[in-house]
Amino acid sequence: MTAKARAMQAQGIDVLSFAAGEPDFNTPGAICEAAISAIESGLTKYCPSKGLPQLREAIRAKVQRENGFSCGDDQIVVSCGAKHSLYNALQVLVEPGDEVILIAPYWMTYADQIRLAGGTPVVVSTTAATSYTPHIDQIKEALSPRTKAIIVNTPCNPTGAAWDRSLIKEVAALALKHGIWIISDEIYERLIYGHNHTSFASLSKEVAAQTITVQGCSKTYSMTGWRIGFSIAPANVTSAMANLQDQVTSNATTFAQAGAIEALNLDPAIVEEMRAEFESRRDMGLDLIRAIPDVSVTTPLGAFYFFVDVSKHLGGAISDDVALADWLLENAHIATVPGSVFEGPGHLRLSYAAHPDEIREGIARLQKGLTELPS
Ligand SMILES: Cc1ncc(COP(=O)(O)O)c(C=O)c1O
Repeated sequence: MTAKARAMQAQGIDVLSFAAGEPDFNTPGAICEAAISAIESGLTKYCPSKGLPQLREAIRAKVQRENGFSCGDDQIVVSCGAKHSLYNALQVLVEPGDEVILIAPYWMTYADQIRLAGGTPVVVSTTAATSYTPHIDQIKEALSPRTKAIIVNTPCNPTGAAWDRSLIKEVAALALKHGIWIISDEIYERLIYGHNHTSFASLSKEVAAQTITVQGCSKTYSMTGWRIGFSIAPANVTSAMANLQDQVTSNATTFAQAGAIEALNLDPAIVEEMRAEFESRRDMGLDLIRAIPDVSVTTPLGAFYFFVDVSKHLGGAISDDVALADWLLENAHIATVPGSVFEGPGHLRLSYAAHPDEIREGIARLQKGLTELPS
């Protein structure tokens, strides 16, 4: 949808895009300056595949300080984005025929990465009635002798759901009991509103020994293009992930890592300013969406997406969310992502990582568009 929106914009059409999954802020200046001075001082060569030792040290200190767990240097791999960290984890853990539990709606990359590793996604569905969080019994029912791992993404793309500590503890206990891995995608950990993030690895040493924590710089510091993510996992899993990465990409870009060191040590007030801005856009957008007839949306507790239930507007010529997203792009000139992409049919995902004026105008276009749908 982003690509289609850009093509229409290039033709001079005034399209507002709410499809992209990235913050709209510039990367903070201090981070850019650190990378520029790294280039100028010659940090332009290969570095250890697992990442610059100084960055691994900054990650070690960061998870201790912000996430409440400790890890050794032999537990960290810096990769080309959190997506790459997840790929490494699934490649080394999943054997053909293994099952990996996913909570739907989910970020679509998980299912494809599981299949790329020869595994099978087993989907646990959630709805707005539980704010898109599962009940532990649903996860128990999804277990089988072939279950290798569960992927948990809190805060969640696309729903904005953020799990309570109690659910995290229940899932951790289940994973320990059944010997399954927890892949904890925490890429949105700092973009959270009125809720506290809990890292699985902070619960206990036993839980940490079965957890691959994936974090990164993309969302928190508005660094999506820098491609810096990282994993914290038990040393043997880390070693396998590092070996794999060694033969595929080697190190993530060296001078981008210098920027990442600066990011992890950034003045917390800068991150807070961006987080607070997302929260105020969220509040404004929620009020506007809730004023649209026959549309509903749960309050996102994290990330920067509205997952809007438009099912009451579907049927007839516009039979599903994919057709609706296409129609809205062509006719109302707003780009959204259909919920089906995330196994959440009947919904549209709208990113609120956009200027407040654009959010206002975009939601007005959505409201008007929904009244003009062909029958
Ligand atoms: C849930 C989730 N995990 C991981 C990623 C990947 O992040 P990165 O850009 O660091 O690869 C994204 C990006 O959209 C995401 O939404």
